[in-house]
Amino acid sequence: MQMADSFSGDQADIIHRFREQVNQWLDAYTLQLDSPPRLREAIRYCLLAPGKRLRPILALLACRACRGEIERAFPAACALEMIHTYSLVHDDLPAMDDDELRRGRPTCHIQYDEATAILVGDSLLTMAFEVVSNRSQTARECCRCVGILAHAAGYSELIGGQFDDLAAQNRLLTIDELASIHLRKTARLFAAASELGGVIAGADEQRIAQLTQFGRSLGYSFQIIDDLLDVQGNENRLGKRTQKDQTRGKSTFPALIGIEASHRQARHLIDEAIGHLEGLGDDADALRQWARQMIHRTQ
Ligand code: IPE
Ligand code: IPE
Ligand code: MG
Ligand code: MG
Ligand code: MG
Repeated sequence: MQMADSFSGDQADIIHRFREQVNQWLDAYTLQLDSPPRLREAIRYCLLAPGKRLRPILALLACRACRGEIERAFPAACALEMIHTYSLVHDDLPAMDDDELRRGRPTCHIQYDEATAILVGDSLLTMAFEVVSNRSQTARECCRCVGILAHAAGYSELIGGQFDDLAAQNRLLTIDELASIHLRKTARLFAAASELGGVIAGADEQRIAQLTQFGRSLGYSFQIIDDLLDVQGNENRLGKRTQKDQTRGKSTFPALIGIEASHRQARHLIDEAIGHLEGLGDDADALRQWARQMIHRTQ
């Protein structure tokens, strides 16, 4: 991926390897699902499509930053990707953002049909909890991971943010209102990803709190950059349509404060994110470098 290309060699290798491994785990989890064959096909069509796998990579890098055993973090990493992919499938539905292109392919409801897209989303969301609770870990750690995911994906965070995003269409939001939407619909899952990495590594509570703050600031920056790419990005690289936010009457950072100020805010949030990692030492270098590259992303 583009973002990894400008890393120093070792870091790029780590990211590349993590992405490949996540893809292999996702493939293995869905290869023999005991579901109607067409539902399985549609699940795999969405989940195995070429996404960037940022949330799993974040969980794995956070685990690594705390010297955790990486292998143990893959189920949670895959659960994050399942929840994220479900949110995209539903986000693209006609009743939501009504998009026809995702990850360079027709969206689920275009390729299949609306009912299938709804049920694919339901399947991925529930599968995430099956995957994260079905591993050799302590009951305590398992419950904590389930709770983190459920809260981040739930009515007050991802779903609540999506609800307010839709309710706000064709209404000019204040910056605070927009920030609240971005923090819930997107940043909270990033926060959960880095928190999960710390929890699975067995890090102390102080460190887990730092990682959670890191993910939150980075995720907030990530959504501002997503808003910018909708205005300035290239459809082929992004694998999704551009110029759609304005058409749909969405309040976005570029619409509210302009392109330059949005870039500045995104950069500031990445600095803020990295600031939260103070005291984590060299082990967090890959995480810092990965966060720094985020501002340059084109896909
Ligand atoms: C897109 O997320 C949706 C947002 C939260 C902005 P990504 O840009 O991570 O999408 P994929 O997973 O790479 O397709
Ligand atoms: C999506 O935000 C956020 C979630 C899916 C939770 P957008 O609606 O801006 O994402 P894109 O631009 O369609 O990928
Ligand atoms: Mg949306
Ligand atoms: Mg959308
Ligand atoms: Mg967008």
